[in-house]
Amino acid sequence: MPPDTIRAQFPALARSHLGRPVAYFDGPGGTQVPGCVVEAMSDYLLNHNANTDWAYPTSIETDAIIAGARSAFADLFGGASAEEIVFGLNMTTLTFHVARALGRGWGPGDEVVVTQLDHQANVAPWRALARERGISIRLVHFDPVSGELDMEELARSINPRTKLVAIGAASNALGTINDVPRITGMAHAAGALAFVDAVHYAAHGLMDVRGWDCDLAACSVYKLYGPHIGVLYGRRALLAELDVPKVDPAPNEPPERVETGTQNHEGIAGAGAAVDFLASLAPVKRGKLTRRARLESAFGMLHREGEALVTRLWDGLAAIPSVKLYGPHPGRPRTPTVVFTVRDLAARTVAEQLARAAVFVSHGDFYASTVTEHLGVKDRGLVRAGCACYTTPDDLDRLIDAVMQIGD
Ligand SMILES: Cc1ncc(COP(=O)(O)O)c(C=O)c1O
Repeated sequence: MPPDTIRAQFPALARSHLGRPVAYFDGPGGTQVPGCVVEAMSDYLLNHNANTDWAYPTSIETDAIIAGARSAFADLFGGASAEEIVFGLNMTTLTFHVARALGRGWGPGDEVVVTQLDHQANVAPWRALARERGISIRLVHFDPVSGELDMEELARSINPRTKLVAIGAASNALGTINDVPRITGMAHAAGALAFVDAVHYAAHGLMDVRGWDCDLAACSVYKLYGPHIGVLYGRRALLAELDVPKVDPAPNEPPERVETGTQNHEGIAGAGAAVDFLASLAPVKRGKLTRRARLESAFGMLHREGEALVTRLWDGLAAIPSVKLYGPHPGRPRTPTVVFTVRDLAARTVAEQLARAAVFVSHGDFYASTVTEHLGVKDRGLVRAGCACYTTPDDLDRLIDAVMQIGD
């Protein structure tokens, strides 16, 4: 699909700031949303709004919309079934929920492995179990130069006492993509569960819970062109036995038994539409392809585009003497998300100056606080520029030029 055709679907790209079109690089904090997603949400609220499981048309339509969105996410997670898809407020809430349920069966002597590269939403829920259940946490470090996990330390940290390994598919700070199948393999060899935080990865690489062979995985739809909700994949047998807090007589079958209260129906409608939007980006449209096949084709294209964009961005920024880049070089397994500092300026100051050029970037630690600590930039923070499906080479050149002006 030509870039202009993709961009035309995002009303937010028409925005200008101080007389210039906005270049959005804040996708890792939340992408812009195509019109079709907003339409699905307003269509739900205007024409189908109801609670679930009742006998009249709008309730039956609501059930169908939720079922449709579950099957869309079963395709996006890859080879999952609709009953393995749990909706919730966001990834953080879902992760606290399943962590607490799992922790009810754990105690002193049990261990969970987390990493220094992860967003705290994939650390805090497991650390909470150290306080609540007396389990031990093992922290795996990353190499500050390569931005990659210490795989030897990871292997050493997993042992017969390990109950779960909590791993990020990709770092939302450095863009590093982890070798998830290798890590889940190590977890399972020790008899432990594997939880994958796919929030940052999911907009850039096609999730594949069968290929990853994980037990649980979570993503956030607002990072992949949809509304603010979270989605959890869980192996059916695991979801069926999780000791979740329940309101009787709420359904006791997966996936509903893991969901709490009334769901965000309009958000779920938009989430399903976001998956269909992603599938619609497939360059290969010939024949009747399954949605998963269209997603594979779309993500193949996004991956190729992402590699070209990240190389151009990295090289452009690396040529500015006052810029320091962090994380894996292009060519290593990484997403098109780049973090940097300019001289000794606070990241917020850089972001403010870039905003004056209508270049929107995020700054700080992005809740990956152990990453900024380990890189020695905890106080001033990092500037983060993330490429999305609507990012153009021209956007990158504007970002590089604006950084150059600050750096001089
Ligand atoms: C890698 C990663 N994990 C988890 C989260 C938390 O997601 P949510 O906001 O849906 O709780 C984020 C959000 O930035 C993230 O980037």
